[in-house]
Amino acid sequence: MRGAATTSGRGVFRGRSRSVQRRAAGRRPGHRTESVERCGNPLAFAALDAGDTVVDFGCGGGIDVVLAARQVGPTGRVIGIDMTPEMITRAAESVTEAAVGDRVELKVCDMAATGLADASVDVVLSNCVINLSPDKQAVYAEALRILRPGGRLAISDVVLSEPIDPALAAVFAASWVGCMGGAIPETDYLQMVSAAGFTTPTVAARHTLGAGELAAMSCCPGQRYTTGPAAADLAAVAGTVLSIKFTATKPTGPAT
Ligand SMILES: C[S@@+](CC[C@H](N)C(=O)[O-])C[C@H]1O[C@@H](n2cnc3c(N)ncnc32)[C@H](O)[C@@H]1O
Repeated sequence: MRGAATTSGRGVFRGRSRSVQRRAAGRRPGHRTESVERCGNPLAFAALDAGDTVVDFGCGGGIDVVLAARQVGPTGRVIGIDMTPEMITRAAESVTEAAVGDRVELKVCDMAATGLADASVDVVLSNCVINLSPDKQAVYAEALRILRPGGRLAISDVVLSEPIDPALAAVFAASWVGCMGGAIPETDYLQMVSAAGFTTPTVAARHTLGAGELAAMSCCPGQRYTTGPAAADLAAVAGTVLSIKFTATKPTGPAT
């Protein structure tokens, strides 16, 4: 166990960077005003096929929705869900700018209760979101429900290499808008994915966040939106916070 809490951070997540939206829309970030850090890029390993139906859990400003929409093409479908109407509005702007609205649907809802039909989806992807949920098991149960047999997860998320002081974890949870608000140990996280009914997850990449990355992640999507935790609290967990990318599949047969 690492670290000790010294203060708390709290912020308000009002929006997403236009620079990210510009990149998703394929436009030059010519007059970029702020940078937005992302803990991963699930589209880099999701291996989407033309015609796939894809859901993005916690789509934020829509960068992955746009990238996925390009990959699945006009015969595919991408559903971006986010619990905040403000983010869905941002995502809608990105989709319009990228001219992929013919294959995109955006929904305000909780990723643990999407309202989507059983077995209706080929791929669930998510970037830096599921760790924020206080009930990750329910999120993965929902992903299993909506995926067709043989469908898969492509997830980037933030985890810990070992447990940290619960008081410090509470500090990070208070700054829930950051990308690490509910991070738990990787072994617990991946065990939860398997317990939900998925095959054993395959970790495609694992990256220990450096000090600068950790600071950026802890106040994602930027200082404008959230102050994040104190530097001393971040220093206490240096070397224990990881970004992981993994896939896992919904079995085609009955659970054994
Ligand atoms: C750190 S941002 C990541 C956004 C996006 N995936 C990206 O990579 O740019 C987290 C997003 O998840 C959303 N979110 C957090 N908890 C959620 C939940 N339970 N259900 C749906 N969206 C959620 C937030 O509103 C926010 O837009």
